[in-house]
Amino acid sequence: MSSKDAVEVAPAKPVRRPWSLAARLTAWYAGSAFLLILGATGFLYWVLSTNLDREDDQFLADKVHLLRKLLRERPDDIKSIEREAEEEWAARQYAQVFVRILDTSGRSLLETPGMSKELTTEVFPQATAIDAEPGRAREIETASGRTFLLLAVQAHVGRSGPESRLIQLAFDRSYEEELLAGYRRNLWLVLGIALVACALGGYQIARRGLRPVAEVTDTARQIRATSLGARIEATRFPAELSTLAATFNEMLDRLEESFNRLARFSADIAHELRTPVNNIRGEAEVALGKERPPEEYREVLGSCLEECVRLTRLIDSLLFLARAESPQTQIVKETIDVGRELSLVRDFYEAAASEAGLKLQVIAPDGLEAEIDRTLFQRAVGNLIANAIAHTAANGAIKLAATRSGDRIQIEVSDSGCGIAPEHLPHVFDRFYRVDQARANSSARVGLGLAIVKSIATLHGGTVSIASTPHQGTHVTISLPGRQTAPSES
Ligand SMILES: Nc1ncnc2c1ncn2[C@@H]1O[C@H](COP(=O)(O)OP(=O)(O)OP(=O)(O)O)[C@@H](O)[C@H]1O
Ligand SMILES: [Mg+2]
Repeated sequence: MSSKDAVEVAPAKPVRRPWSLAARLTAWYAGSAFLLILGATGFLYWVLSTNLDREDDQFLADKVHLLRKLLRERPDDIKSIEREAEEEWAARQYAQVFVRILDTSGRSLLETPGMSKELTTEVFPQATAIDAEPGRAREIETASGRTFLLLAVQAHVGRSGPESRLIQLAFDRSYEEELLAGYRRNLWLVLGIALVACALGGYQIARRGLRPVAEVTDTARQIRATSLGARIEATRFPAELSTLAATFNEMLDRLEESFNRLARFSADIAHELRTPVNNIRGEAEVALGKERPPEEYREVLGSCLEECVRLTRLIDSLLFLARAESPQTQIVKETIDVGRELSLVRDFYEAAASEAGLKLQVIAPDGLEAEIDRTLFQRAVGNLIANAIAHTAANGAIKLAATRSGDRIQIEVSDSGCGIAPEHLPHVFDRFYRVDQARANSSARVGLGLAIVKSIATLHGGTVSIASTPHQGTHVTISLPGRQTAPSES
């Protein structure tokens, strides 16, 4: 091959192993449980923090209302305003409130001690209009690290005077901030623990859930040709997996059945081959034992030939059955006139039948057509006729009949022979099954004739059945799918 023809082979990409089922279930379980906990705790945090905000706004609004009222009713009594304010507000232990009242020129009339150290007048927001409700407070952090809510409003002085005052209110919410920060810290701790717990819990749940799968795997791993009897105990499994296990067990049943049948078949083949080979060997040994006249050698050779014929028939039948069972087997179907075909087979066996003193008769309508493999059809009917001839005494009758029944064609071979006892009937289609075991070793009988008929019927999508009454006769019916043309009965 020239270098031009050379095919470049791309380096194989490393195949990425997909995640195991346990890992996926764990990830899904842990992920969703964690998201749920995160959502729930986040929502609780949001509720807490908005409630605190609303409470703070309400508190400041109340203070504004009170101060405005005091300024309107006792405009000159700054001291009592100061005292009243302090007394009322002291109730709030952790949240300090600063108040400053300025006149229009910006002069401070009242101020909570220590207020200007934390909060100058400039840090406050623009005051709201004189009759307007206080809006939202502004939040700032001072140089000392404390957090304040600031509010500035205008207030009337006296009931009817034109004068006004500027009230600056500051509320220390550092304690609340600390509370929220502590809450957040606990949340992260809880979430971290929850994540680890969800992952561990999820993994345990996934492992427990998948234990039956591991059991199925274990059983499958133990199965060998010699231990096909192993089954999965599926009663404790959940519904989905018990169906899997039951299907798996059914598969094992079928496999075991096939294996046993094959083993029996092999043993039977060995047994069947041994008889003719032993016969040939024995006869050859006896013949060679001493000097004999030529007629005796001829007789031995004739007997050996008979055994060879039996062997050939046996091997031919076995080969046929093996091919018929192969899934690749194709049959060559052609449209044949069933009645005509039965007559042809009859002609073939006519001589043998009349030699046995039997009447061989065909009853079939004209134009009864079917899609059939001609050679196989002849072989199946031939086998049935050979059986009938072999088991019917002289002066008996053998009938070949073909009829249409719905979309099927029935081919029947009946005789007036010795019949088959009911206990043997279910087995006659088995390979190597012979009713009369005493005659089993006769070179004519192999015990595969009916098995071949059955496999030919199966190959055509049909069935075969047998009915028999001892001392009255046997009736074998092959039922094949037929064409839906109405035949003209004759
Ligand atoms: N028409 C029949 N009347 C009575 N017994 C029958 C008839 N057909 C089959 N049998 C019984 O069923 C057994 C199985 O038949 P089958 O055709 O499979 O084998 P066989 O005739 O013994 O051998 P082979 O057909 O392979 O040469 C026979 O041994 C025979 O005892
Ligand atoms: Mg037979």
